[in-house]
Amino acid sequence: TRKVTTHRLVEMKQRGERISMLTSYDYTTAQIVDEAGIDVILVGDSASNVMAGNVTTLPITLDQMIYHGKSVVRGVKRALVVVDMPFGTYQTSEYEAVTNAIKIMKITHADALKLEGGEEIIDAVKKIISAGIPIMGHLGLMPQSINKYGTYTVRAKDDAEAEKLVRDAHLLEDAGCFGLVLEKIPAALAERVAKELTIPVIGIGAGGNVDGQVLVVADMLGMTDGFRPRFLRRYADLHTVMKGAIGQYVEDVKSGDFPNENEQY
Ligand code: KIV
Ligand code: NA
Repeated sequence: TRKVTTHRLVEMKQRGERISMLTSYDYTTAQIVDEAGIDVILVGDSASNVMAGNVTTLPITLDQMIYHGKSVVRGVKRALVVVDMPFGTYQTSEYEAVTNAIKIMKITHADALKLEGGEEIIDAVKKIISAGIPIMGHLGLMPQSINKYGTYTVRAKDDAEAEKLVRDAHLLEDAGCFGLVLEKIPAALAERVAKELTIPVIGIGAGGNVDGQVLVVADMLGMTDGFRPRFLRRYADLHTVMKGAIGQYVEDVKSGDFPNENEQY
């Protein structure tokens, strides 16, 4: 199986072939996701919520993202692996941004990085790309800016925010980004951006007329129970499956049913 490249993703868009993307944060899950045939694995900073139980993505550190990135890369043979640069590691200066980007690439052996923002971070994006590191943009709802928004509601519903998003999308493409994630924006706006750009646009809560889709793996597998936004399709109910299996184990240990004669030496 040939490794997916950033170049191949752009070709997929040209052919009209949809791109599938999911998050992973650990070796075991990444191996399953890769074997299932996913095109892109995102080591999202949503690890802050999903793995560490934080309320936002802000607290996760560079070293923690590197740990998750390394773990995922070890489990992947085919998919393109993209690592999120965490909050605070690319906004301070171009120098810090490229230094942190290089650190992630050197230690994790990931294929690319993702950064949230447009015009505000465009110099950092250009600097990182000029160092030879592929970048995926991320616009619309940007969870690292949750304290600015004050809510996780749909973004770019008004004309001013929508026009800025379109401008930022073009800036990111012109800067050399190989792809763009659009999170939680009106479907019509996402469709317009996907049509205007030549690089693939991957949506989450951005409708079906974009070039690919991304979801958080724990959400789409139904491991997380409370989080049920409209855009989330649950492909399994692992919360119930896992709780049932673990409940059975507890019962078997208590009753002495486990281990039986074949399960000992
Ligand atoms: O961190 C993450 O999971 C993400 C996706 C929602 C795009 O950035
Ligand atoms: Na993220």
